[in-house]
Amino acid sequence: MELFHLSAECYPVAKVGGLADVVGALPKYQNQAGHAAKVVVPGYDNKFTNENQFDHVHHGRLRLGQFVFDYDVLREKTNKLGFELYLIAIPQLFDRPNVYSYEDDTERFLAFQIAFLNWLIETNQRPDLIHCHDHHAGLVPFMVSHCYNYEPLRNVPTVLTIHNGQYQGWFGFDKIDYLPDFDRWRTGFLEWNGIVNPLASAIKCAWKVTTVSPSYLNEISESANGLETLLRFERPKSVGILNGIDTQVWDPKTDPMLEHHYNVKNFKAGKTKNKKFLCEQFNLDPNKPLFTFIGRLVGEKGADLLPQMCSVALNANPGEINILILGSGDPGVEAALQGLQHFYHGYYNAYIGYNEKLAHLCYAGADFLLMPSRVEPCGLNQMYALRYGTIPIVRRTGGLRDTVRDIGDGGFGICHDQTSVFDVNHSVTRAIDLFHDQKRFDEARQTAMHIDHSWERAAQQYIQLYESIIY
Ligand code: GLC
Repeated sequence: MELFHLSAECYPVAKVGGLADVVGALPKYQNQAGHAAKVVVPGYDNKFTNENQFDHVHHGRLRLGQFVFDYDVLREKTNKLGFELYLIAIPQLFDRPNVYSYEDDTERFLAFQIAFLNWLIETNQRPDLIHCHDHHAGLVPFMVSHCYNYEPLRNVPTVLTIHNGQYQGWFGFDKIDYLPDFDRWRTGFLEWNGIVNPLASAIKCAWKVTTVSPSYLNEISESANGLETLLRFERPKSVGILNGIDTQVWDPKTDPMLEHHYNVKNFKAGKTKNKKFLCEQFNLDPNKPLFTFIGRLVGEKGADLLPQMCSVALNANPGEINILILGSGDPGVEAALQGLQHFYHGYYNAYIGYNEKLAHLCYAGADFLLMPSRVEPCGLNQMYALRYGTIPIVRRTGGLRDTVRDIGDGGFGICHDQTSVFDVNHSVTRAIDLFHDQKRFDEARQTAMHIDHSWERAAQQYIQLYESIIY
């Protein structure tokens, strides 16, 4: 079958969070299973766009109300990503380095979606399915069903995947004329709580809705930033499919970003060498347990707890543990985490920023990964950690609940129930005990490394879902 994935992010083209990893991997595995899964993302002015070669496949024009924009569709030349990649270049809107956080994000992503559909129409393409990721692609199901211009695409099934239901892309009705002409009696399919809500619209209009883990689907029926009742209503067409990880990219045996490679048989020696290398760079003690946090420093991830949590843990275990933080986000949290460096010299460090190579090194060199998330639709970091033999310490929520079993229940992780400094530190204490119980620690790490979270299974589940609506 031929399908398009539509998304704001795709690794390695443009990455802010886990969405990029999913869109950069799922299509590859669908293609390996014999389908033609293609990816469409905006053409940002970034490293990937500037360093790769593209064929120009289409030029067109789109209208947002009274504004007119030229757009170009570019196809990556070599197909090296394992899927056909198309960039929609709209110079006035996307000729910028970042993915999000511009004042005109509404216009940007609306134009992206309209350009995509115009391109299909103007080139007579009729894919078997369109798979939309998050609210940036959320108006496509509505437009396919209700805009007059897109009549030829009317029966193309659409699927929405919710990677994060907190962000919904809402905007006011003053911008409703940006949408191509549609039957005004259908306006209710765009609206939620009095404004245009692209995520809500996609939940209403897509033929199927998926979340990135089964537990997250249960949770958003209770708490979804205002969409709870809608999600409960649409539950019959919804399903939770746990993400996979790209085990070709994330493999401690071959990972080009690592100094020392290892596998499940020689993991102890391999991890020790990586830990030593990491500790040297960050002035930490390689003989003590090393805790790390990797990710965006935002409330959703529980990052606001980190400054206090680190002080409590480092004061309670002076000279006995190391903590290394890698991330960026909330400026207040960044400053507080940087400030701690002066107090816990030699046992604590923070790298504020995004650094893919360092992230790989942390998974390989750390002993424990902290994930005190308030919300975690799936979470990929815990799966990377498991594959690299690092024990995840997680709050039981969303995908973390579905992927991490506590060592007390015969599992390979450490779990707590609340996003609180007290709960995280209780888990840290349990982790220190585990670290010193060498036999149990090694068993847990070995079990973790054996877990299979590869994409083949999830890719297949999506295909089955598609087939249930195509045929
Ligand atoms: C979002 C979610 C994260 C999930 C990722 C990929 O970033 O916050 O939990 O793993 O999307 O689906």
